[in-house]
Amino acid sequence: MKLGVNIDHIATLRNARGDDFPSPVHAAFVVLEAGASNVTCHLREDRRHIKDDDVIIISKLTKRLNLEMSADEKIVKIALDVMPKSVTIVPERRQELTTEGGLDVAADIKRYESITGEFKFKFTDAAVSAFIEPDPRQIDAAAEAGFGFIEIHTGRYAGERTESGKYSELFKIKTAAEYARKIGLRVNAGHGLNYQNIYDIAMIGGFMEFNIGFSIISKSVFCGLETAVKEMLSIIKAAEFANCRNT
Ligand code: PXP
Repeated sequence: MKLGVNIDHIATLRNARGDDFPSPVHAAFVVLEAGASNVTCHLREDRRHIKDDDVIIISKLTKRLNLEMSADEKIVKIALDVMPKSVTIVPERRQELTTEGGLDVAADIKRYESITGEFKFKFTDAAVSAFIEPDPRQIDAAAEAGFGFIEIHTGRYAGERTESGKYSELFKIKTAAEYARKIGLRVNAGHGLNYQNIYDIAMIGGFMEFNIGFSIISKSVFCGLETAVKEMLSIIKAAEFANCRNT
């Protein structure tokens, strides 16, 4: 199981002073050198953190950009031009602080089919993912729309405060991930994951990649980005090791 690090909030910090540091490009190299497999950036329609140039440069220099994006036509066009290593389609609302909930693929399968088709037409090995709830209806819709990957939204699990609530969300994620793999999808997970809650999710096993941003960038303020990434990786590896021993 791999780790993708979302570096949007390095850009938030840079933009706070309108200067050119801290640099998301520099951060991309630090997280990759620390052992992350990919760098994730969300090019939002309002460009509140990551800007077009960040995406172009990070994709070109690292070749390991996962571009998070809405299904907006203009953003799709940019993604087709940049062609990052992978794209993850997410819902986007202007006023939200961060992505809220998964994409409703089932509500408009044709629209998403046309987007996955555009990527596959231009790039035969395009990795296109849908960020969705752990819901079999959305999983079926994602497969029908031609997505090869899904990213399961773990935000509800992360936000649960009771043990029984957490267990019930974990169970939904586990069941959904197993079902998705059974019908041929590759499965990532992310949103709200942190140093306290990643272990139980990682113990489910079978995920290709976790996408984690806010907790890693926040920790890096105190201990540095390299250490923050390595600590997260060590928890994921510990779960992987425990899983191997149990099987
Ligand atoms: N995955 C997706 C699809 C997201 O939208 C985000 C937030 O940008 C993340 C993962 C990372 O979430 P967090 O910053 O809470 O770790």
